[in-house]
Amino acid sequence: MTPSQAPVDIDATLAALTLEEKASLLSGLNFWETQPVSRDNVSVPSMWVSDGPHGLRKQADEGDHLGLGNSVPATCFPTAAALGSTWDSDLLEQVGAALGRESKHHGVSVLLGPGANIKRDPRCGRNFEYLSEDPVLSGDLAAALIRGTQSQGVGTSLKHFAANNQEDDRMRVSAEVDERSLREIYLASFERAIAGGDPWTIMCSYNKINGTYASHNHWLLTEVLRQQWGWDGLVVSDWGAVRDRVAAVAAGLDLEMPGTGGRSDADIAAAVRDGSLDESVVDTAVRRVLHLINKTMPATQDRTPVDADAHHTLARQAAAAGVVLLRNEPVDGTQLLPLSPTQHIAVIGEFARTPRYQGAGSSQVNPTRLVSALHALSAHYDGTVTFAPGFTIAEGPEPEVTESELHDQAVAAARDADIAVVFLGLPAADESEGYDRTTISLPPVQLELLAAIHAVNPRVVVALANGSVVTVSEWQDHAPAIVEGWLGGQAGAEGLTDILTGASTPSGKLAETIPVRLHDVPAYENFPGGFGTVRYGEGIYVGYRWYERRDIAPAYPFGYGLSYTTFTVTDTSVTVTGTGADTNATVHATITNTGHRAGAHVLQVYVHDQDAPLDRPDKELKAFTKVHLAPGESTTVTLALDSRAFAFWHPAVGRWVVGGGQYQIAVGESSQAINATHTVTIDGEDVRLPVTDMSTMGELRKHPIVGGDITPLLDGLDPAFLAMVDDIPSTVFAGFGMSSLDADGLEKLIARANEGL
Ligand code: BGC
Repeated sequence: MTPSQAPVDIDATLAALTLEEKASLLSGLNFWETQPVSRDNVSVPSMWVSDGPHGLRKQADEGDHLGLGNSVPATCFPTAAALGSTWDSDLLEQVGAALGRESKHHGVSVLLGPGANIKRDPRCGRNFEYLSEDPVLSGDLAAALIRGTQSQGVGTSLKHFAANNQEDDRMRVSAEVDERSLREIYLASFERAIAGGDPWTIMCSYNKINGTYASHNHWLLTEVLRQQWGWDGLVVSDWGAVRDRVAAVAAGLDLEMPGTGGRSDADIAAAVRDGSLDESVVDTAVRRVLHLINKTMPATQDRTPVDADAHHTLARQAAAAGVVLLRNEPVDGTQLLPLSPTQHIAVIGEFARTPRYQGAGSSQVNPTRLVSALHALSAHYDGTVTFAPGFTIAEGPEPEVTESELHDQAVAAARDADIAVVFLGLPAADESEGYDRTTISLPPVQLELLAAIHAVNPRVVVALANGSVVTVSEWQDHAPAIVEGWLGGQAGAEGLTDILTGASTPSGKLAETIPVRLHDVPAYENFPGGFGTVRYGEGIYVGYRWYERRDIAPAYPFGYGLSYTTFTVTDTSVTVTGTGADTNATVHATITNTGHRAGAHVLQVYVHDQDAPLDRPDKELKAFTKVHLAPGESTTVTLALDSRAFAFWHPAVGRWVVGGGQYQIAVGESSQAINATHTVTIDGEDVRLPVTDMSTMGELRKHPIVGGDITPLLDGLDPAFLAMVDDIPSTVFAGFGMSSLDADGLEKLIARANEGL
């Protein structure tokens, strides 16, 4: 957009545009710009959109959506995997604001992110771009990023809507998922991000949902998104996700990206002319485009320079906050972390010199700066740091010796040092947009090296670089201390170094479960599907919901992370007000830093519905907060739970229902470490299901209105026989002539049962 443009007069412009011009506004000019219109007195500027999500990828020259071409230098913030582990909405809002400032400096109207897809399976190649396996954590953190970016007048694009939980076959596969799982898990993450952040745009996904492409899905894009959730922004396609442009615009997809050289525009105009598409549908989409142009115009005219140093510092702070200390076992009575400044440290692993800090694909940022862990650690310790690469990675320098010599040199370096800090991780090619992983193990060459190092020096710290979970169980006996650094962005190595040295106290918590082995994961046999279909057979039991329900011990549970200080949680209490859909609860707790270092604690609130009329998870995260406390400091926190914290998606009535009965509210520091549990009683909603002649005798027997008529008919039946009768549809039972209930009687009874519904 050129500077000093006036806002578009939407009504006048819409009246003046030809049908062809309107259609042209609904698709891209190229990879990143929308089409302008400029003639006589009609002027609609184009808008520039860029990836996202953890940094700006503005391609000034040739564009592509695969992350191949170059882009302007921008701060590469930690990837969503690392940001998710911060559990820190305030921090993510600051990161979002920084992303917004960089976008507007480069004239970008919309930053394509954040991603709110649930990490359904650790094999998903793009998990590094997603925040969590839990919808409340994912939704709240996505909302924070959105609020931050949009506070700068730059739009966001919450993506990829919806059920895009794998990369294999992503452009074609149909996610076969029941509505309850969609609503409670997959859509819930987006719904919460929308409620808390109100993104100006949403990007639909490539895949189909139960047989219909997301881009053509009227139920998804209009009924759920707009009618039920009340969202009124613009829907943009994922790049190339539209198969039928007319079906897409009718479903509620406003903007197709990138452009198709006029083909889609012609399809839209032809459909309006032949009467198969109502012009008002096109007008609505055009209005949304014009509205977005106006909304983002002031920001794109504000080219305030970016403070790259300040953004790098923020990236470092965010990276440190996302590091999860998994293990810090004593060796000879002393914990290895934080590192002691007087030690001789052997830094081992090519990743220490050649950092892995972001994933592959459309999110790849050209960083303003990049610091290695070797550099950061050497800067911290004078002269006591030695380095051995130990193994090669594709991005690293050409090795001057053989792999086996690299191995031997690293083992020798570890032997000679007080402590070995070993940087392990996934090769870059293992994690990318566009394909999934088949294993969640680290490469054998790295594990062999680790075992050999541990054999000569048991004082081993492992620092991990990976965007999606890797197993640790097979090797953690060789690593008394483990820090999970994820893909931490351009300052990731410095953030990690801050944790290793103790300049920062670890406060990251797992936003996803680390399984013992791949065979334990919820979608093990249903990922990535085949022949164009993937079945979400685990239903709502995703992530920790699965491990808890199946009683499968994970290596490290959801919400887990150690610290260098200690906290106590006391005086917890829960107050409930209201009933049914108006139920609200407040959770109070006092948190005290009882250790000797400043640090942060994440308080997690889980809810379990004990008396539900259907199967519900043992624990579901419903609220969390992160508090920063000086040594000895205490604070009291209050967390609000609204009715959705208790509700389930009722498959028979197709809406959220708060069931009556007892609920357990657990306050904890991980999904498994619970500080206190409170049981509360909630007055649920009265759900009357419509009765039909296929309602069973059991259902009629328990019905609040007609149950009294049925019970006498079945009096005296043997319990085993009654159990069988209970399952017989009432029309079948009436037909048997076993009682006085006949077809006429049943019809009247049904009418009475349904009165007032
Ligand atoms: C990705 C999107 C990205 C778009 C533009 C697609 O391949 O799935 O996340 O925003 O390309 O680069």
